[in-house]
Amino acid sequence: MTTEQQSNAVLKIGIIGSGKGSNALSIFEAIDRGALKAEVTIVLSDVEGAGILNHAIQRDIPARFISAAPFMTKLDGEAQQDYIDVLREHDVDVIALAGFMRIVKPDLLAAFPNRVLNIHPALLPAFPGMYSWKQALDYGAKIAGCTVHFVDTGTDTGPIIIQRSVPIKEDDDAGTLHARIQIQEHAIYPEALQLIADNRLRIEGRRVFIASPS
Ligand code: GRF
Repeated sequence: MTTEQQSNAVLKIGIIGSGKGSNALSIFEAIDRGALKAEVTIVLSDVEGAGILNHAIQRDIPARFISAAPFMTKLDGEAQQDYIDVLREHDVDVIALAGFMRIVKPDLLAAFPNRVLNIHPALLPAFPGMYSWKQALDYGAKIAGCTVHFVDTGTDTGPIIIQRSVPIKEDDDAGTLHARIQIQEHAIYPEALQLIADNRLRIEGRRVFIASPS
């Protein structure tokens, strides 16, 4: 492939999630309106009938449930290999974890080096793990937010690409706060993917540098 062909090639995204799929939807919509120059070639879920699969099916995007059994909280062993095989079959350049409720293990990361992204509903490194918006609320923080980061072998520890903050209001409950955070998630995940599509990210240690648009 020539350099020109490479720069014209459309980024192929594989999305993996376990839940309702609002982030996947925001990626589809960003592609539809031309804000993200990419194609989603496959959506995978470890949850049969998950909303994220239905969003893809409604748009005729290939979507599959793949069991991650026998594990409960991680994607490992043969199940992980099944995911890798299907992602490769669909020519995926970058993987967007979007509400995937499992820890991914080194084999997947090695198959897609520096090409696995995650969206986390907190301003990392504060509040890693589950229900981060509730952690922030219960802690008494005044500012919450979300983070798109590269995935490494830790839990929510990889190099940070984009973060966006939201205020925590006195009358917030977990639901209202998560909804406010999700509005920003839906903005920054497509933005981060477009930075990958434009080859504008450079990782140095923990830091991710964003080149000016060419
Ligand atoms: C989001 O809050 C995301 O940050 C977290 O899981 C949630 C997934 O939501 N990792 P959705 O399925 O994309 O609506």
